[in-house]
Amino acid sequence: METINSISNMTELSANWRREGLSIALVPTMGYFHEGHLALMRMARTEADRVVVSLFVNPSQFGPGEDLERYPRDLERDARLARDQGVDCLFCPSAEEMYLPGFQTWISVERLSQGLCGASRPGHFRGVATVVAKLFNITCPDIAVFGQKDFQQLRIIQRMVKDLNMPIDIMAHPIVREPDGLAMSSRNSYLSKEERRSAVSLYQALMRAKEMVADGIRSGQDIIQAVREHILSYANTEIDYIFLGDPEELKEYREVHGKTLLALAVWVGETRLIDNMLLVQ
Ligand code: PAF
Repeated sequence: METINSISNMTELSANWRREGLSIALVPTMGYFHEGHLALMRMARTEADRVVVSLFVNPSQFGPGEDLERYPRDLERDARLARDQGVDCLFCPSAEEMYLPGFQTWISVERLSQGLCGASRPGHFRGVATVVAKLFNITCPDIAVFGQKDFQQLRIIQRMVKDLNMPIDIMAHPIVREPDGLAMSSRNSYLSKEERRSAVSLYQALMRAKEMVADGIRSGQDIIQAVREHILSYANTEIDYIFLGDPEELKEYREVHGKTLLALAVWVGETRLIDNMLLVQ
């Protein structure tokens, strides 16, 4: 596996592969790999001749006071794990090269970025869409693989690719969970022992909502109330949002009908966790 830092070297390697007729899959990440990332890499490995994993803690998607500085990093371990998954290239650009002085071009996927995480993290999805578009331009992939834990992000990237005619297949990988159901996330490493016990409340609440729907309950208000009560019964939890709605357009429903997504963001101590589940597929 090659590790590349410079943008021109990455572009050259991708261009060479394409000239040889090889297909490329990109897995965009911010590093500190866990089993969820490795599953994305394995999916990419089965879909293309060459796999690039980008590792870049993107400053433009962090707001003031967020965790950019303390975001966990371990490049040596990440490189070892990526190599073990058969990744061909780990692309780790610098923030200085990604955002040259005078940088002022942004991609904003407007309506889809407004609610859910976009409401409490203004500018976040503008940073995500912009860096992903840059990574697409640099690595020229045929396929890019994203996890479904960041459901809104996935929808935004799908929309961007469609709206801007980017010839890239976006593949979604199901959420990878710990044995007790907690969705894997690099940010889980922030949790204390006690917070880790509370963190499982998100998954439990999603499962509780799924059971309610299976029992014939349709009222969004009743489901959201049950989810809220379950999460708040755990120590150190504070709800950012509970969204029940259409998984395509991310519009809220009053009642469960057709495909229905339940998505959550919850503060557990100082750590903001997200999770989601399709209540009706
Ligand atoms: O999901 C992430 O890790 C990031 O938002 C992404 C897609 C790598 C963009 O920085």
